[in-house]
Amino acid sequence: MSQRRELPDWKQIYQEKEAETMAWFNPDIDADLDKALTKLNLKEGKALDLGTGPATQAIALAKLGFTVTGTDISDAAISRAKGIAQELGLDIDFRQDDILNSKLEETFDIVFDRGCFHVFHEEQRQDYVRNVSNLVQPKGYLLLKCFSHLETRPDGPYRFTPQEIGEIFAGEFQLSSVEDTVYQGTMEVFPKALFCVLEKI
Ligand SMILES: C[S@@+](CC[C@H](N)C(=O)[O-])C[C@H]1O[C@@H](n2cnc3c(N)ncnc32)[C@H](O)[C@@H]1O
Repeated sequence: MSQRRELPDWKQIYQEKEAETMAWFNPDIDADLDKALTKLNLKEGKALDLGTGPATQAIALAKLGFTVTGTDISDAAISRAKGIAQELGLDIDFRQDDILNSKLEETFDIVFDRGCFHVFHEEQRQDYVRNVSNLVQPKGYLLLKCFSHLETRPDGPYRFTPQEIGEIFAGEFQLSSVEDTVYQGTMEVFPKALFCVLEKI
């Protein structure tokens, strides 16, 4: 059984720290998201940035022309995100929502998860899969970036092999592709990551 990981108090962290200092902060569009959108020829539609945090990816998707919703469990992250979107004149629907008990009632062409899934303990993962599956349209995509089993630093979120991802999401999603990559952010050495394209069955 894998080691139980200590993770931040998500509701507090955005009250106590500047988002720009967080390990996962990436001001630009995630390079793997950008590549996947091109490869899948996705140029418009409804996109959910799940666990939006600093909201950089929701903003990038909106700038590309997607109709974007951004959710996070943290009220502080959502209120910061709303302020930034307003300053930029972007119409993004930011809402507080817990993906393990989501109250969203719509579906999306794309759900992008950059670093949310990998914070959940083993016993929470099937709640995640069920909730996220309800949010993706049939034939829509879950684009998932998580830490890779190749990452060896002691701290941080859970890590996964491509096979584990396929098994966890089986029944709801087909794993179309997995690439070895890094999780760009503020760390000197970027953590090793997987970028997974999961198609809703
Ligand atoms: C590693 S951060 C990544 C943030 C953002 N996706 C990015 O790439 O900058 C993980 C995010 O997931 C959010 N989160 C944690 N648990 C959640 C839950 N149950 N429902 C929704 N969001 C959650 C955290 O508040 C945090 O913003």
